[in-house]
Amino acid sequence: MTEEDLIYFRNWFSDFCVGYHYDDINDQRNIALKERHTKDVCANMVEIARAHFNNPNDILLAEAIALFHDTGRFPQYAKYKTFRDAVSVNHGLLGAETLIREQVLMRLPVDEQKLIIQSVKYHNAYKIPANQDAETVNFLKMIRDADKLDIWDVFIGLFSLPPEQRASAATLGFPDTDGWSDGLIKCIYNKRMGNLKDVRSVNDYKILLLTWIFDINYEKSFSLIKGRDYIARISEYLPRNSEINGVTAQLAAYVSKMTDGSV
Ligand SMILES: [Fe+2]
Repeated sequence: MTEEDLIYFRNWFSDFCVGYHYDDINDQRNIALKERHTKDVCANMVEIARAHFNNPNDILLAEAIALFHDTGRFPQYAKYKTFRDAVSVNHGLLGAETLIREQVLMRLPVDEQKLIIQSVKYHNAYKIPANQDAETVNFLKMIRDADKLDIWDVFIGLFSLPPEQRASAATLGFPDTDGWSDGLIKCIYNKRMGNLKDVRSVNDYKILLLTWIFDINYEKSFSLIKGRDYIARISEYLPRNSEINGVTAQLAAYVSKMTDGSV
């Protein structure tokens, strides 16, 4: 893959996005959120890739994967007006299908096309499928880190806004009720990522976001998490009590441990 290929892909993607722009302010806010997210995930991905890859080709591939990872969000929203995969379509799969159908990657060697397609397809899977080759697994781990880092930023930005200004599809329609699920708190003590199917409220969703820390792979990602203070910044939007303070301390200790070079 060359720098020219990446420029071609950036141009293709920005034309693709324009095809999904809306006059309706709410729809356009939802779509703009995903365009901005893509840009920021690219920046995260390049930062992580530079820390872990020596080969410039791998860094270009990493950026292309980040650029295309949420391709499926645009046709998903056009058809279903939601970003909730469970009630619409798997957006990783739809993104991979869209890239194949549009023949976007044809200018690349077949092995690189396959690497990008598999990474887009599984970037949002609960776990990386077992049958992937080692190289694909490395890129999949990286896009999953880069994506999570920006999703934390996106939500911190959204939680800071009054509800009427938030992109409506972002909090997936959960009610903003008091309390939270014990199951998600247990995930943190067991160092396990929570599952969206256990989320019943916006508070649960915030705790789910915190559990993602246990699915982070690269040392550079942990150092970005520490530097950007995501744990404290998300916890700020949860109720203050000893249980929440306990899990926050647990998470902060985990991040510190993982930035000690033990990853
Ligand atoms: Fe995604």
